[in-house]
Amino acid sequence: MTATILDGKALAQKIRNEIKEKVKQLDPKPGLGVILVGENPASQVYVRGKEKACQEAGFISKKIAPDKDISQAGLMKIVDELNQDNEIHGFIVQLPLPKHLDAQFIIDSILPSKDADGFSPVSLGNMLINNNKILPATPKGIMRLLEEYKINLEGMHAVVIGRSNIVGKPISLLLQQKNATVTMCHSRTKDLKKITKEADLIVAAVGKAKMITQGMVKKGVIIIDVGMNRDENNKLCGDVDFENVKEIASFITPVPGGVGPLTIAMLLENTLECYALSNK
Ligand code: GUN
Repeated sequence: MTATILDGKALAQKIRNEIKEKVKQLDPKPGLGVILVGENPASQVYVRGKEKACQEAGFISKKIAPDKDISQAGLMKIVDELNQDNEIHGFIVQLPLPKHLDAQFIIDSILPSKDADGFSPVSLGNMLINNNKILPATPKGIMRLLEEYKINLEGMHAVVIGRSNIVGKPISLLLQQKNATVTMCHSRTKDLKKITKEADLIVAAVGKAKMITQGMVKKGVIIIDVGMNRDENNKLCGDVDFENVKEIASFITPVPGGVGPLTIAMLLENTLECYALSNK
């Protein structure tokens, strides 16, 4: 048996086409702001992808790219300006921020109605009490992908590896909302293999190339790989040893072309949700 590939790229394109059609009817156009501090190369690539997606969908996009040495007060001023900018319906602060900046304080200052990333305590708190509003893009994209392939999570044992605020914590809540039994694992988990061997579904969001091997999973497992790493040949790869694990999994996301493209599609969708909130 070899796994069905969960084609995030194709689903993301379909969603982006639908958004583009919707935006044709809208006036004014939805606007997404992106704050990119400094010159982190990975962040630059992500932000370029987000801007390109905005242009293609007919959104207005505004990138503000201050120097890496900007002060906390300077960055706060930019956030305040975007909070008040009527052309910008949602905006994000690309993470990570340079160490001297208090990222949480900055995120706390984004108006919840403009929080296109769904990272604010209000957005995340609403999810915690099953009152979903704007959801973080990557976990939202994973749920959309599972839905697209009609994967019923009811009663499944889902194992989430990684406990970040961006992926691990929110995806564990969303899986639980769909009646999966969720185990969260992280860097201090003892005997990870014992737990992953029991999993019906694994979400790997660690950032360690190919750390989930065939011997760690059971036959028929569903694999969602959020990792974006470089292997020994500098080739992009996930947290899962795709070539070997796909031989025994039932479904698996590739890297690239799995979860990544959906993150951008969901950011556009979130911006549309912010747009709708602005018209209320
Ligand atoms: N850094 C890595 N992923 C993300 C994301 O989805 N949003 C932001 N703002 N920063 C990130």
